[in-house]
Amino acid sequence: VVPKVLVFAGSSRQDSLNKQLARLAAKRIEALGGVATFVDLKDYPCPLFDEDIETQGVPENVLKLRELLADHQALIIASPEYNGFITPLLKNTLDWLSRPYEDTPGLALYSGKWAALVSASPGGLGGIRAMPLAQQLLANLGLIVLPQPMSLSKAHTAFDETGTFIEEANSKKLDALCQRLVDILARVKD
Ligand code: FNR
Repeated sequence: VVPKVLVFAGSSRQDSLNKQLARLAAKRIEALGGVATFVDLKDYPCPLFDEDIETQGVPENVLKLRELLADHQALIIASPEYNGFITPLLKNTLDWLSRPYEDTPGLALYSGKWAALVSASPGGLGGIRAMPLAQQLLANLGLIVLPQPMSLSKAHTAFDETGTFIEEANSKKLDALCQRLVDILARVKD
């Protein structure tokens, strides 16, 4: 059975650079023989986490995202950088999915899964300042995070109109990261 990779971005905006990067990553995983599911978090709006909301009934979109997470063995997350940090959307999504639900204990959905991180920013650093924070958060959740995330600087000029990288160097970087993830998943799948 080929391991499945869930791919999403920590931005919901229409023209999100991180969504473009996430879509490309999903395509690369498929090209390398993996199975990838790209999810646009705009399609699964979840309220800002509040234990009262949770007590009253976990929102339908959270339950749908929980099912998606449970059905995949790895994550690729494209994280924008907001003021040197990850976005509230990403934190909120990860928090909702960290909660116990019915017979599933808290963090159980993440436990032992692999994660690779990428980031895109129009700036010169490509959102790299948020990467250690994202790595730490994912590790706290029980995921095993691949080192050496890819940060795409000047991301607003990186893609052509079909969403493909203009520069070969960027394709190579993303390929290398996706290859590492696919190789690891192939080794650990049993
Ligand atoms: C930003 N942006 C930004 N960029 C960056 O490289 N470092 C940063 O610290 C910040 N901080 C920041 C804060 C806030 C509140 C916003 C809205 C934006 C710019 C950001 O990288 C840019 O808007 C990206 O295009 C956001 O990612 P998506 O939506 O294109 O995926």
